[in-house]
Amino acid sequence: MDKIIGYIEENFDRFVNELSDFLRIPSISNDSGDKNEIYRCANWLVEHLDRIGMQNVCVFETNGHPIVYADWLNAGRDKPTILIYGHYDVQPVDPIELWENHPFEPVIKNNKIFARGATDDKGQVMTHIKSIESYLKVKNKLDLNIKLLIEGEEEIGSPNFEVFIKDNKKLLECDYVVISDTAMYKEDLPSICYALRGLAYFQINVTGPNRDLHSGSYGGCLGNPINVLAEIIGKLKDENGRITIDGFYDDVIEISQEERQELAKLPFNKNEFMKELNVNELNGEIGYSPVEQLTARPTLDCNGIWGGYQGKGAKTIIPSKASAKVSVRLVSNQNPDKIAELFTNYVKKICPNTVNVDIEYLHGGYPSITPINTKAIRAAAKALKRAYNVEPVFVREGGSIPIVNLFKKHLNADSVLIGFGLPNENAHSPNENFDLKNYLNGIKSCSFYYNELASL
Ligand code: BES
Ligand code: MN
Ligand code: MN
Repeated sequence: MDKIIGYIEENFDRFVNELSDFLRIPSISNDSGDKNEIYRCANWLVEHLDRIGMQNVCVFETNGHPIVYADWLNAGRDKPTILIYGHYDVQPVDPIELWENHPFEPVIKNNKIFARGATDDKGQVMTHIKSIESYLKVKNKLDLNIKLLIEGEEEIGSPNFEVFIKDNKKLLECDYVVISDTAMYKEDLPSICYALRGLAYFQINVTGPNRDLHSGSYGGCLGNPINVLAEIIGKLKDENGRITIDGFYDDVIEISQEERQELAKLPFNKNEFMKELNVNELNGEIGYSPVEQLTARPTLDCNGIWGGYQGKGAKTIIPSKASAKVSVRLVSNQNPDKIAELFTNYVKKICPNTVNVDIEYLHGGYPSITPINTKAIRAAAKALKRAYNVEPVFVREGGSIPIVNLFKKHLNADSVLIGFGLPNENAHSPNENFDLKNYLNGIKSCSFYYNELASL
């Protein structure tokens, strides 16, 4: 291992340059992105994986963006096989005026690299790729079998991934899935994530009169779509922070007393948290701690709202239309499709007859929870300890990686989530960045992890 660690340290500057090249490709996966750039990014990975000595490197076409696959399976049948999953697609960059550098021209400041995708997920994908390279260059082999799967639609809900897994069960067969697409609990505190929330995402469209109307001539006797939409959103949660949708909590598994005690030990400082976000008070579900509210309880948020006049100055109208995007985060054992039905019925029920409402279910993903008392998790804890010299903590994440559930369902494989991001690295937001200290320690952690798994 010393030689591998030595190689990583000697080549680290080049590893940073290669990450920069990866970050320069604007692989935005949603409709605002450029499909050519998605292909350029997938091809960049193919070429890179070929160069470091991975085998069977190829691109799988899907109905959406392509999936990159590679493997190295010469360690022998008595060694474990891991499937490493990550994503090369990134979120859009808006609002671009809030970026201090161009989102696709990476800049290093204070030992952090700034670019869209730096922490989510290109930097973290590269920790594995560079670790594999180091192993292969130093030892000319790996001590375990590795399959690599890097997809291009994670940020839009992986709409074509389930079909791909179902069609390629044999190819993807593995003992464990390993994913680095989560955050460390805080700086210098390596973390293993054992639960992710699920997601159901909606757009609510409210239509009132057939055209915008003069608000003086018509105001006073009509349902105003914006007012009504605001009322609907206001009724989705009560004053205790509970979601009011009928049946919403039916399948929620309550957090056990033991787990609550463990979560309470995490170093969460409410005042620092509020100060960092510049808020005066928190607002969460009564009866749960902020850590529980953030990760172990479902929640509902309006993500965007529009309608009527949005320009400068005043314009007096009753708008014809108003819309909002709403995300609902789910926990085990909630089912996103069932939640979609409950959500739709409830919104229809509370919407007054003065307007028409239409609800679009944009996408859904299942929550996941994995046992932590397994060999693969203990090996991960050892590896993180070796790299960081600190005992890792076990955390839940509030975010979602819906494919974790699909790997369990179709491959019967549990995922080990070792993330090297930090919570304040602005994922999905302007000035996204990735701490190069964690890039380095992440590469080392992956190497230690492959080593630990090989000796199980
Ligand atoms: N890497 C994130 C998931 C994540 C977020 C893990 C926060 C830990 C903390 C992933 O790329 C992501 O953003 N997922 C989406 C879900 C998807 C269905 C659009 C999310 O959580 O919003
Ligand atoms: Mn991600
Ligand atoms: Mn993301």
